[in-house]
Amino acid sequence: LTSEKYPQLKRNPSFKSLTSEDVSHFRKILSPGSVLSTLATPDAPATEAEELHAYNSDWMGKYLGQSRCILRPKTTEQVSQILQYCHAQRLAVVPQGGNTGLVGGSVPVFDEVVLSLNNMNKIRSFDPISGVLVCDAGCVLESLDNYVAEQDHIMPLDLGAKGSCHIGGNISTNAGGIRYLRYGSLHGSVLGLEVVLPDGTVLENLSTLRKDSTGYDIKQLFIGAEGTLGIVTGVSIVAPPRPKVQTVAVLGVDSYESVQKTFIAAKQNLTEIISAFEFWDRSSMNMVLAHAGTNARDPLADEYPFYVLIETSGFKKEHDDEKFSEFLEMVMEKGFVTDGVLSENASQITMFWYLRETIAEATVKTGPTYKYDVSIPVPQLYNLVLDTRQRLTDMGLYKEGSADYAVKEVTGYGHVGDSNLHLNVVAKEYSPTVSSALEPFIYEWIANHKGSISAEHGLGLMKAPYLCYSKGPSMIQTMQRFKQLMDPHGIMNPYKYLPAAEKSA
Ligand code: FAD
Ligand code: MLT
Ligand code: ZN
Repeated sequence: LTSEKYPQLKRNPSFKSLTSEDVSHFRKILSPGSVLSTLATPDAPATEAEELHAYNSDWMGKYLGQSRCILRPKTTEQVSQILQYCHAQRLAVVPQGGNTGLVGGSVPVFDEVVLSLNNMNKIRSFDPISGVLVCDAGCVLESLDNYVAEQDHIMPLDLGAKGSCHIGGNISTNAGGIRYLRYGSLHGSVLGLEVVLPDGTVLENLSTLRKDSTGYDIKQLFIGAEGTLGIVTGVSIVAPPRPKVQTVAVLGVDSYESVQKTFIAAKQNLTEIISAFEFWDRSSMNMVLAHAGTNARDPLADEYPFYVLIETSGFKKEHDDEKFSEFLEMVMEKGFVTDGVLSENASQITMFWYLRETIAEATVKTGPTYKYDVSIPVPQLYNLVLDTRQRLTDMGLYKEGSADYAVKEVTGYGHVGDSNLHLNVVAKEYSPTVSSALEPFIYEWIANHKGSISAEHGLGLMKAPYLCYSKGPSMIQTMQRFKQLMDPHGIMNPYKYLPAAEKSA
């Protein structure tokens, strides 16, 4: 088997090719409707290949696998039986949550079996005193947020894909998102995990304790492991008290320098109530407005090179309003911000967030998008966008404002409050010319500026060969040793996350 999509990759010949006996075995473990396979078995006909397409292709339409079997277990015990079998048979497995990942981690490369967590979506418990929620890994983030909202709590993370992504997928990618500035990393808010290891062992580590310093903190290994060390089946996570009032401002800013000054001022003056500080550039705004239809309009009278969205969340409206208004007066007086608008009601809050949260969708609707999610110290953060534009212009691949080139847009946005840039290069088509102009240039740039090649989306298939730009040989070798220890046959999400062993040695 070869993948036309990835001519540079070879299928690992030590993996077994799926047979109808394997599919029959899976049908014995799961109910028949929970197995989709293009291989017929004595008890069930083959499924049409189109039915498997959604599991084989990613959200961007950039990655495409060739799996012939999708498994949708309902219980941890079933996941355990599946992995026990795959481990013994050397069948490679791709865990899949909501399939909203942006680095090609959630879909197969060749014919790996997909294990979807879609049917594992039950809330197990919620303790209103501690705010600790215990649930299945396949629960959709937005459903969890709605559930804890009924009890005056909030999920500690939020992101544009909330309506589809699973909490297990969030944990496996160590997702960041728009509440990170306030509630921090999942490494802090996840209290425990239930994980099925590659040989089928169920690791029971569903602690609900805020403090637990007994032994190695093994759950941390699975946060951000992208399904390479096992399958997360259960999650214990702290949901903080839900703020009662929220206010959002969209600001027009004339330079990236002023975005930074506004950020410093926001930290100093909105300290305990600030809950998000996001930015995007003119090019992002143009794409969003072109795709927004009646959902949104530019809230400011004039066009700006940069936009900042600030959200405050608190418990006393008068207090927060007073602080926010004073802050806005100050940043406008100082000339950091040229124009701004403060939300007056819930629908305006939704509209302002729409402008920021729809950028991802607007870019992929504009054209095939190369996405670079990176961490860079705030002062240098936007320089990557400028330098990439310059490089593509010099190479004759891009001209600002012209549709006649291989690259249509080079755009920057992100969670500037967390030093996290999303550089997106929107092309006419995915092509070796464009990708070789971007990579390894971008990763070298990141390494030279002491950044990280992955801030919140993970490594997946896209960044596996480039890990060395952010981690040294001792780190990569230690990661490979962990992988070997946990998954000696390498069946879990192969070809991804880690560079091929010989390259990094
Ligand atoms: P999937 O895409 O299904 O999988 C992602 C990875 O995790 C894969 O490697 C998969 O194998 C593995 N995996 C999934 N579930 C499990 C499991 N139960 N056990 C073990 N491994 C598993 N990310 C951010 O960090 N911040 C953002 O603001 C953000 N915004 C986004 C906005 C949009 C519109 C989209 C499409 C994506 C966005 N993402 C963002 C990227 C994405 O990482 C997150 O959406 C999310 O964390 C992925 O969850 P998922 O359930 O869709 O996982
Ligand atoms: C975002 O912050 O909008 C997401 O991480 C998605 C993206 O990078 O496009
Ligand atoms: Zn993001």
